[in-house]
Amino acid sequence: MKWLIDALTSSLGRKIIMSLSGLFLISFLIVHLSGNLNLLKDDNGATFNVYSAFMSTNPLIRVLEIGLVVGFALHIYTGIYLLRYNQQARPIQYAISPKSEASWFSKNMGLSGIAVLLFLLLHLKNFYWEYHYGDVSTVTIDGKEYKDMYKITATVFGQWWYTLIYLIAFVLLGFHLNHGFQSAFQTLGLNHVKYNPLIKGLGTILAFVLPAGFAVVAVVMFLKHMA
Ligand code: HEM
Repeated sequence: MKWLIDALTSSLGRKIIMSLSGLFLISFLIVHLSGNLNLLKDDNGATFNVYSAFMSTNPLIRVLEIGLVVGFALHIYTGIYLLRYNQQARPIQYAISPKSEASWFSKNMGLSGIAVLLFLLLHLKNFYWEYHYGDVSTVTIDGKEYKDMYKITATVFGQWWYTLIYLIAFVLLGFHLNHGFQSAFQTLGLNHVKYNPLIKGLGTILAFVLPAGFAVVAVVMFLKHMA
């Protein structure tokens, strides 16, 4: 057991944890965005409310949620550790080493990460907390009563400053994903001259499509419900 703990807390072990948890969180974002696209349906939020109820009551999803919390916790804890370690010693960098031509964002993964974390705290308060512990109204859909998650979403994005904060966060998330995705593959040794352009291209597409998808939802909700 000691060998495992030693391996996981070594510099390389920590970077592997960072990579695997990061890739896992990207898979969460893909699922999350596809669920959010239900908000674009012109049905007063009926599909989205049924979807939200399913996600918050289905036992399998509840188990996956524990994995999600662990994934975020590992990524954030290890990220903060590596950030402090790099600041103090600077011998270990991201797999894509910040050469002089590296972008500002690739050299400052910690900063974009902290910004996304702050966004996440605000987001969980706006949505998760409100849905589970807030005073939520209900709607009847096909004879069944559902908490009105659509209304919570409309209230948040109906306020321009929230929409603006969210849009800024999505841009920062994009930069974080763009560098993080490629770096994860390099850390895991899954890089090869032949496939590197493919990995880079895929990373850039993901880093654009995911934030852009979230942004479209936010802007459409704003336009429909602006206060
Ligand atoms: C337009 C953009 C977004 C919308 C409308 C949105 C909406 C929601 C909603 C409705 C929930 C469900 C709360 C619940 O059922 O308990 C939720 C949860 C969550 N969101 Fe988002 N979200 C957006 C973007 C993001 C982004 C960019 C991230 C990550 C960086 C994120 C991370 C999370 C997390 C971690 C949860 C908690 C998951 C859980 O309930 O298990 N969201 N979001």
